Amino acid sequence: MKIFVLLAFMLSSYSYAQSSHDHQGDTKKTDHHSGMHDGDHHGGMGGMHGGHHQLDKNTLKQFFEPLPASIIDEKKNEALIALGKKLYLDPRLSINDQISCSSCHRLDNFGVDSQPTSPGHEGKRGGRNSPTTMNAALHIAQFWDGRAKDVEEQALGPILNPIEMGMPSEAAVVSKLKKIDEYKSLFAEAFKDEKDPIQYKNIGKAIGAFERTLLTPSRFDDFLKGDQNALDESEKRGLQKFIHMGCVTCHNGVTIGGNSYRKIGLVEPYETTDMGRFEITGIETDKKVFKVPSLRNITKTAPYFHDGSVATLDEAIREMAEHQLGRKVGPGFVDDVKAFLGSLTGKGKE
Ligand code: HEC
Ligand code: HEC
Repeated sequence: MKIFVLLAFMLSSYSYAQSSHDHQGDTKKTDHHSGMHDGDHHGGMGGMHGGHHQLDKNTLKQFFEPLPASIIDEKKNEALIALGKKLYLDPRLSINDQISCSSCHRLDNFGVDSQPTSPGHEGKRGGRNSPTTMNAALHIAQFWDGRAKDVEEQALGPILNPIEMGMPSEAAVVSKLKKIDEYKSLFAEAFKDEKDPIQYKNIGKAIGAFERTLLTPSRFDDFLKGDQNALDESEKRGLQKFIHMGCVTCHNGVTIGGNSYRKIGLVEPYETTDMGRFEITGIETDKKVFKVPSLRNITKTAPYFHDGSVATLDEAIREMAEHQLGRKVGPGFVDDVKAFLGSLTGKGKE
């Protein structure tokens, strides 16, 4: 039932995007004298009194789900999680003892480094923006192209990546850690049943377990759970516009994204040399297909897009409307949607 409704919605919003595409000139022209036209197809519907389009519980449930309180038994896995956190923060996992996971995914900065692309141990940068590690464990897969199946598998990549942490081999990492007394006891505690607990794959298990604790419940979760006052009027308007415009066809579920792969430039072609999932699958239709990013904490994780080429959230919202939905939107739409997106920031960190 849920899937059917979503599908129907996607189809209608697709044709909606197509038809509105024809009127793009129109929309653009009317833009300057009213913030209300922008992206709001249902004229006069910009407020909270949108007739059949109210934000009722059932509508919200079709698209979103609040963050669970926890996705790992934190008590049972206490030693594993503590080890994972230590590894996550430890620059000794890199060849020159200078780069940790937290260099690019800072725990004190919403899991990002706020740079378009990130310098590794030699200062070299890859072609992609560092996505946040916050709530990432809930995604269908890891990386912009989904090439690692979960956070445990993902964590093993950067340590050996020549332009990231640059360690030469799994054996080199293991032997380095074995020389650090503290790790002997921490691994022994975390992997009680194992005779030789300092193993490469166990590093991934520990870091992954820690990443599973990186959930950031927000005011929007309170709203989904029924607290009508958790969002203010502009945020509620933004949520309505986000739904009606069709952003929600891709950015939905518990992480408001993170659960599907879609093409960048679905309606209006988007210039990029990064072929996304095509590089993994070799399937023609996977060209420029990326994992839809989660929008949790999005106001805090600029710059945006897979290459970090979009500096501001305003621009990201405008580009999305244009390239994914074939719509030109003005400041009214952008301001409200941005306000809504602000409600997705972890509470206490806003
Ligand atoms: C030099 C910077 C850098 C370092 C160091 C680094 N990462 Fe990343 N991380 C990235 C970049 C860039 C990507 C995206 C690459 C891609 O998608 O191809 C990424 C992707 C990820 C993702 C996927 C998130 C998502 O939404 O798909 C996770 C999780 C992650 N890194 C965790 C880690 C962990 C754990 C470590 C330490 C073992 C680490 N990273 C070290 C830059 C870095
Ligand atoms: C057809 C699917 C689709 C639709 C519809 C869509 N998006 Fe996206 N969105 C994506 C994909 C895919 C990306 C990643 C693009 C990239 O990095 O190249 C993305 C990226 C973003 C980003 C940047 C995230 C980041 O971490 O860099 C924001 C913000 C965003 N979308 C907001 C919106 C808004 C607002 C709307 C509605 C106006 C919207 N999206 C509509 C698929 C979609």
